[in-house]
Amino acid sequence: MQACTQEEVNKVMESAKSAQKLWAKTPLWKRAELLHKAAAILKDHKNPIADCLVKEIAKAAKDAATEVVRSGDLVSYCAEEGVRVLGEGKFLVSDSFPGNERTKYCLTSKIPLGIVLAIPPFNYPVNLSVSKIAPALIAGNSLVLKPPTQGAVSALHMIHCFHLAGFPKGVISCVTGKGSEIGDFLTMHPGVNCISFTGGDTGIAISKKAGMIPLQMELGGKDACIILEDADLDLASSSIVKGGFSYSGQRCTAVKVVLVMNSIADSLVKKINEKLGKLTVGPPENDCDITPVVTESSANFIEGLVMDAKNKGATFCQEYKREDNLIWPLLIDNVKPDMRIAWEEPFGPVLPVIRISSVEEGIHHCNASNFGLQGCIFTKDINKAILISDAMETGTVQINSAPARGPDHFPFQGLKDSGIGSQGVTNSINMMTKIKSTVINLPTPSYTMG
Ligand code: G3H
Repeated sequence: MQACTQEEVNKVMESAKSAQKLWAKTPLWKRAELLHKAAAILKDHKNPIADCLVKEIAKAAKDAATEVVRSGDLVSYCAEEGVRVLGEGKFLVSDSFPGNERTKYCLTSKIPLGIVLAIPPFNYPVNLSVSKIAPALIAGNSLVLKPPTQGAVSALHMIHCFHLAGFPKGVISCVTGKGSEIGDFLTMHPGVNCISFTGGDTGIAISKKAGMIPLQMELGGKDACIILEDADLDLASSSIVKGGFSYSGQRCTAVKVVLVMNSIADSLVKKINEKLGKLTVGPPENDCDITPVVTESSANFIEGLVMDAKNKGATFCQEYKREDNLIWPLLIDNVKPDMRIAWEEPFGPVLPVIRISSVEEGIHHCNASNFGLQGCIFTKDINKAILISDAMETGTVQINSAPARGPDHFPFQGLKDSGIGSQGVTNSINMMTKIKSTVINLPTPSYTMG
């Protein structure tokens, strides 16, 4: 993998800047056409790109293929949405504001920002790249991608699909390298007009250093799952297993803490454990449910949280087992607020259960977190669910399902340390544009006849 130097970053920025001027003049339908073409090429190359994901980030083969297809769909959807969202502006007249006659017509449209810098995380090097690339390009921006180190090969193949589609040189570029060498240089680069970042708390540091440019940040979560007494426990337990253990828990939207009412806690824990027992553990090539976590330091961090809970008296529902980066799924019951795992996100296949005696206790735990990405509630009482949803300080609350970003056109946002700005196709397109107004001033008021 090439470790780009700062000089090479400068060259990429220069090329992105001059390419953007012409790209912004490319008709919208033509930009959409190219995106559709890239989406088709991406899907045609599903297998080799999925193979890269399997080898680079140990994503199970089936999930890796799903990521590529989902990405192609996202690019196509974004092209469709872009021609509508960007094809419309506003027309305002002045006499709606006190003191004005109808002498001013204001025409607004959405124009590109310039260069968008996209920094996706390791867990979706393809999907969380295109979720930034496609809105940036349809809006007439050029795009510079800094892929994660683990996932860079997959990201480069994905970028190649855009080049094969015929995007002009410089409109979409990829810069690989060490964060320590080019990270700050990129995020503080004067050529960058917008940053879309998904990852950990590095995003907080970036937002402090970045200039006066729009920022879209998604920085993780500690998604709480509140289970009420009337919940369908079969549905809740399968959702918790899927939500907590898919891709070995390495999702910002994973269920990261279960808050269950005391009276049903035993039954829920039993059902979760039965389902956990059926998960397969092993290499991603075999399509196992639980695969090795991304780095040794991640595995060590997870182990630190597990051991802290053990030392403080939590109940382990399974024996803790680890071989190198492979950690067996573990449910930790009777977790208490003084344990680190009650608050920190393991980003691995271990899930804490906190038993609660009131819904308020659950809401309080959820809201006491620094994070506020998503949360979920299981109950058959929709009225109660709405009240609890409104009380939870998270960007999204799922009722009777585990947290998830998709479908990819839904708004996706975090509160507090979980980020700023809202993603989802339409929101991202809007965020990667600015409003331009032209005001026509008439010498005399003009009123339409009616
Ligand atoms: O890891 C962060 C992703 O935005 C989560 O996406 O809910 O589709 O797994 P997902």
